[in-house]
Amino acid sequence: MKEFSVKDLKKEYISFFVSKGHKEIKSASLIPENDSSVLFTTAGMQPLVPYLLGEIHPAGKRIVDSQKCIRTVDIDDVGDNSHLTFFEMLGNWSLGDYFKNESIEYSFEFLTKHLMIPTSKLAVTVFEGDEDAPRDEEVAKKWEELGIKKENIFYLPKKHNWWWAGEEGPCGPDTEIFYIFDKEKCSDNCSPACDCGKYMEIWNNVFMEYNKEKGGIKPLKQKNVDTGMGLERIVTVSQNKDSVYDTDVFYNTMKKINELSKVDIKESKRIIADHLRASTMIMNDGVKPSNVDQGYIVRRLLRRSLRHMRKLDIDFDKALEIEGAVILDLKNQLGDFDEKEVLSVLKEEVEKFRKTLAKGLKRINEEIEKGVKTLEGEVVFRLYDTFGFPPELTEEIAKENNLKVDMEGFKTLFKKHQEKSRQGAENKFKGGLKSTGEMETKYHTATHLLNAALKEVLGPHIHQKGSNITEERLRFDFSHPEKVSRENLDKVEALVNQKIEENLPVTFKVMSKEDAINSGAEAMFIDRYGDEVKVYFIGDFSKEICGGPHVNSTGELGHFKIKKEESSSSGVRRIKAVLEEK
Ligand code: SER
Repeated sequence: MKEFSVKDLKKEYISFFVSKGHKEIKSASLIPENDSSVLFTTAGMQPLVPYLLGEIHPAGKRIVDSQKCIRTVDIDDVGDNSHLTFFEMLGNWSLGDYFKNESIEYSFEFLTKHLMIPTSKLAVTVFEGDEDAPRDEEVAKKWEELGIKKENIFYLPKKHNWWWAGEEGPCGPDTEIFYIFDKEKCSDNCSPACDCGKYMEIWNNVFMEYNKEKGGIKPLKQKNVDTGMGLERIVTVSQNKDSVYDTDVFYNTMKKINELSKVDIKESKRIIADHLRASTMIMNDGVKPSNVDQGYIVRRLLRRSLRHMRKLDIDFDKALEIEGAVILDLKNQLGDFDEKEVLSVLKEEVEKFRKTLAKGLKRINEEIEKGVKTLEGEVVFRLYDTFGFPPELTEEIAKENNLKVDMEGFKTLFKKHQEKSRQGAENKFKGGLKSTGEMETKYHTATHLLNAALKEVLGPHIHQKGSNITEERLRFDFSHPEKVSRENLDKVEALVNQKIEENLPVTFKVMSKEDAINSGAEAMFIDRYGDEVKVYFIGDFSKEICGGPHVNSTGELGHFKIKKEESSSSGVRRIKAVLEEK
């Protein structure tokens, strides 16, 4: 095996595919452009969907890139050897050019002739076939021809060997390549589908010849190849390490964290490293910590890494020192970026969390002074509910003070609370016009239209900061740095009225919170929602998490008129608007 640094491995990959007639393209932003259905770019294929569907790509039919990606679904796995929130995905693409055979030959040549991985260390999985597509014997045969032993070729079902872009879009069977570690199989049935650590997925070659549509799976206009190889994972293999945290990807970061930690908890060290790195990359693409959308993810990542710093007994003041090391490693991997901005945002966020923490500690101390031996579930719940204090943190603090915590009690209250808010939302909805009043219901819907119209006219930075509805008017606070001009207010008003004229249907769907957020639904109080949320759709124009109730179609609203625009607080503007009879 040949050892490559992260930077050189990326170079080697790109130049290999350039030598095979591919054109290099630059990574797209982590924040999807022209696609508000997802929060982040999660795979190299995402920015390329139109070209997989048949549009001509300006760089041609063979493309190679290294795409920045964020995956938040794996957050609970972070801390193990290989899952990362931010990673780069190396990809080679055939847009209606070569297909299965060449794609497999290229992958094999790169792995065995450039990275010099012995063939015996590679295992592959192949689609086993079902009603949508046949068993992929062609692919298995190719692997065998190249020298992969039969016992290292595994047929697996769709769950493992089919790649979907989303609910709709290009998809197809894939063949995944795994590195085999020198450790015992966990059982006789152990296979790459198992996550015991024997096999690590390094490359996925997807044969995108289908499109998932509402009516089912249909053949695409062209046969494409989409491959994805996690840069940081293949670096781990090339540097012969067990974990990505032991490679040069995290060299300065881990060194710094190890230096500052007074307690040795491997998982916490890794979580700090991963979360700071991921939030730095998101902030580098222009996102600030907040309570909505991508900003919410940044806040969650930062707060989680601060919580783990506390576990390691690292003072919060040292967060910037660790961040300095993170930036050094990122510069090594990716080149330059503006660290000043990121550092100052981080500093502010640390201060905010420090305040939250202080408030929570005060509350816990009150309990200690009362002489209690166990923190009641009720207290843990209040801390969570009022200060956004993670229960794990309360548990940690209690432990430090030799207090027990009634976590069962907390869980019961938490469930009850979720149940209540769900029921509340449902009752409100069921009760509909009765419990909320006809005018208020109309203003609720008008507020969604206003939110979406502001976004369209002023830009994607617009987010709801507050809302208040009476029978007479709506009041809406939103993030925007300056006064909104009369001209733009007119445009917003006209757009809302246009959507009313279009008489768009107002519908809702119940989704898991994670799915709703990932689908890009507007959301204001993410912490406060239960696991399942209702997402309201107004035609294609607006998508928001909300309990309801709403009118059935926008035509019921009448005429929308903005009465006033003023400042609410720093960086937040306020609009008051009314609905008039037409
Ligand atoms: N789209 C596939 C993946 O993300 C291959 O790039 O794994």
